[in-house]
Amino acid sequence: MTRSVPILPSEITPPAWYEGRRRFLAHAGALLAITAAGAVRDAGAVPARTYAALGPDESVTRFEEVTNYNNFYEYSTDKKAVAALAENLRPRPWRVEIRGEVEQSVSWDPDDLERRFGLEERIYRLRCVEGWSAVVPWTGVPLAKVLGAVKFTSRARFVRFVAPHDPSRFYGQRGRSLPWPYTEGLTMEEAMHPLAMLVTGMYGKPLPNQNGAPVRLVVPWKYGYKSLKSVVSIVLENERPESFWMRMSPEEYGFYGNVNPEVPHPRWSQAREVRLGEVRRRPTLPYNGYAAEVAHLYRGLDPLKHP
Ligand code: MTE
Repeated sequence: MTRSVPILPSEITPPAWYEGRRRFLAHAGALLAITAAGAVRDAGAVPARTYAALGPDESVTRFEEVTNYNNFYEYSTDKKAVAALAENLRPRPWRVEIRGEVEQSVSWDPDDLERRFGLEERIYRLRCVEGWSAVVPWTGVPLAKVLGAVKFTSRARFVRFVAPHDPSRFYGQRGRSLPWPYTEGLTMEEAMHPLAMLVTGMYGKPLPNQNGAPVRLVVPWKYGYKSLKSVVSIVLENERPESFWMRMSPEEYGFYGNVNPEVPHPRWSQAREVRLGEVRRRPTLPYNGYAAEVAHLYRGLDPLKHP
């Protein structure tokens, strides 16, 4: 098990590997990809810390791969069509509201979030339930910091995330009636875990539309469907929220959705995965490689009964 290792700002070097050149440094027994700490939007907005946990046979996925093969059902179920369709997503103005079981609702725009809570860079694996995966350098703010700034009531036990519903812009919301808006949920404990992020950029740039501009959730130990794109609302709730995928197909997409190579999807195995841009299939890691950090959250929970 490779444990994720936080890297200090002083260790961050700017090799711009995402433009083709890659550099790796041996550090703490693991090979860590050192990323460009480039400004995401404002010059000077340097992410505070890089968090990398790559094994020796892993490298950051090419930007072109991650931005041209996307799940974003609001636009299309055709992953290769999403990038062009999402050109009409207007990431500004945008507000993320936090409401529900809170003493007072708040709403922040993406720049407020970055300024208030400070950008961090995290290199995480992203494992889609469909069997493909990527390694992405995200920039964003820890979700725990954002929630920590809000006073919630004693009834708050779950967090629901909501994406936009606007068929005039999102072509995929026009035809077949699906349970829009796209929603997802976490327990409060999961949402407060330091690995969970609200992301506003990737590869040292603002988040591309097709990847969920201007703000998305990233929960690296869960299947990608939990990492909701283009967040508009964060709602604190007392009861467990029902997600878009639970409404579509509850036996296939559970509330927890933790990456687990031993629990097959009803229609395929989850034991292996293919990184975007690669051909060989590699073993899928329990909790997507973050078991050391998160397994304690699920002690005593049977993943077969609570997928
Ligand atoms: N968020 C919204 N709003 N709509 C979606 O269809 N798809 C999810 C997730 N977030 C989805 C979403 C799924 S299934 C995956 S695998 C990831 O986004 C894909 O993220 P990526 O396109 O940035 O790789």
